[in-house]
Parts: sequence; C-alpha cells; structure tokens
Amino acid sequence: MIILSIESSCDETAAAVTENGRTVLSSEISSQIDIHTLYGGVVPELASRSHIQAVQKLADLALKDAGIRREDVDAVAVTYAPGLIGAVLVGVSFAKSAALALGKPLVPVHHIRGHVAANYIAWPELEPPFACLVASGGSSLILDVRGYTDYRVLGSTRDDAAGECFDKAARVLGIGYPGGAQIDALAKTGDPERYPLPRAKVEGHPYDMSFSGLKTAVVNLAHNARQAGRSLDLPDLAASLCKAVSDTLVSRATEAAVHLGYGKLAIAGGVAANSVIRRSLASEARKYGIRTYLAPLEYCGDNAAMIGCQGYYEYLAGVRGTSALNAYATMSPDSALCRF
Ligand code: KG4
Repeated sequence: MIILSIESSCDETAAAVTENGRTVLSSEISSQIDIHTLYGGVVPELASRSHIQAVQKLADLALKDAGIRREDVDAVAVTYAPGLIGAVLVGVSFAKSAALALGKPLVPVHHIRGHVAANYIAWPELEPPFACLVASGGSSLILDVRGYTDYRVLGSTRDDAAGECFDKAARVLGIGYPGGAQIDALAKTGDPERYPLPRAKVEGHPYDMSFSGLKTAVVNLAHNARQAGRSLDLPDLAASLCKAVSDTLVSRATEAAVHLGYGKLAIAGGVAANSVIRRSLASEARKYGIRTYLAPLEYCGDNAAMIGCQGYYEYLAGVRGTSALNAYATMSPDSALCRF
C-alpha cells in the first residue's frame, strides 16, 4: 500500500512516500531553521506561512523521487496533532484537498505516534508491544506501545520538554538555534562531572519528568558567570547537561521497560539523536536483558516518512479523516480523540 504523507507540525515542512508502513520510497524535508534563527526560536506565524509556500512543491517532489504517479497513491496521511496550530492546519488542509482530488482515503496521524513509527523503518522485526521513550522539542514521554494504534502514556514531563531545555541552554550560551545537536557535538570533548546539575523527580510519579529546574540552572550559571566576568567551559557544561538529561530520560525509560516486561525498548524524537542518550540507553537496557531499538538518526527529527509509516497502521485499524478533520495544538497519543 502506497501512502503519500505530510508533516507540518512545527518548523519543518515534509512530504514522503512510503510502502506498507516499513519502506521509505522518498522523504523530502524543507527546514525553516534559517528563518527562525533570526529570532532565536520558532515564530508560529512565520512557520505557517513557510509551510504554505513549501507544501505543494514538496509533495510533488516526494512523488517524483519515489517514481510514483498520483493515481498510484492509495491513501494520504497527515499529522493533525499536536503542534503549532497554524502550522498543523496547513498540512491538514493540504492533505484534505489532496485526498479529495485523488479520490483516496485521508488518514489522520498523531505526531508522537509518528515519531515512534520511525523505528519501524529501521527495524523490520520490531512489533508492539514495546516500551518507547519519545523526546523532542515539544514532548518527553514514556509510552507503553501495546499495539500499533493502542497507546498508554506512563509518564511525561510536567513542564519543559528535554529538547526545549537543550535549545534554551544553547541560546543563553550563544551556541545557536536549535541547540541540541551543537550541544551534543560540544559534549564529546567535555567532562560530564564538571558542573553539578539537578535531576528532578516527581514524588509519587516515577515515570514523570521535569526539566525546567535543569534549564534554569544552566541559565543561572551563564548569567552568574557573565556578571562575574568569568567564562564557562562550554564542552564541560555541554557534557554535564547531556548527562543530566540522559540520566533523567534513561532511568525512567529503562524502569518502564523492566516494569512492562516486553523485553523491548525503543527511542524516538529529535532528542533521540543525542549520542550520550543513545549510548546510555543501550548500555542500561542491556543490564536488564532488554533489547533497544534506536530510531535512525535521519528519522529522529520531524519528517513525513514516519507519518506515512504510522499512517499505514492507522489505515489498517480503520482510522479515516473526513473533510471536517481539524488540527489540534495539544493531544495525548493515547487520547480517545485518536480513535476515529
Ligand atoms: O522531533 P523534533 O525534530 O521536533 C519536535 O517534534 O519537537 O525535535 C527537535 C528537538 C530540538 O529541541 C533539538 O534541539 C533537539 O530535538 N535535537 C537534539 C539533537 N538533535 C536535535 N537534542 C539533543 N541532541 C541532539 N543530537
């Protein structure tokens, strides 16, 4: 089954063609980083406008690169939640029109479920049930993936997402935007024990997380150093930050995987590209005999291939969107609203 998929939930416009939820025939991404860099963060209105300009061209390019004619598309999948509302609306509106014009079914896909499905591309043997850690710019979640379309959220961040913590730290340290990848690169030569940074726990909720204190700790370090005319050792601070985020995410993900007893733990989302987290997750899980599935680096960040892969399983489960399909800024991946 051939799916044309669209993703526009934040600052990447993406279109892809996938086959049977596992094979990527093409994956096109147009990043808006250059636009938002000027402002040090995503400007929602600019994001929406850029999506409008890019989406049609990307969809055509995805079909061309895949060698697929429009009439060979079996369904159109699209991210409909969560994300910047104006941005998501662009993708949803385009996908509705495309599905109508092609006379094919429309399949709404939850963005986080899409992130999880990035693992299906790299790991043909991976099937639910499994535990999954999703960490991105907007979410940090510990999931029980009971079935392809049957999710349970075990834990989530109470405030900032892990990616937001990296991005804010990078911004105050003058490293650039978005900062996760640069911090990861800097951390390679740093000492992770040099700066003591907090690891927050949420009393009575072992899988929940909080990153706002960690973010503030880095911001305070930067401000205090500036006021005192001291300089910070950036590689050491980057390494300390990566270790703090990794300790928080990896301990909860491993504990959840042990508790669920499936013997399988996957990781996905933009922050899943972090080398410290990937290494630490694999070695921690190994201690408990749990097999890890790391989403491929090229599909960790936002892309439409993952939406097409999850779209396939949503399609098989009977999920269909109508011309009344709406976009949602917030929605849990286990919400009843995901059941169409
Ligand atoms: O999944 P994604 O592309 O967008 C959302 O759905 O939010 O994730 C973007 C986030 C950004 O916060 C970015 O800084 C972070 O992923 N990121 C990383 C790395 N690469 C991207 N964070 C840590 N280490 C990395 N290597």
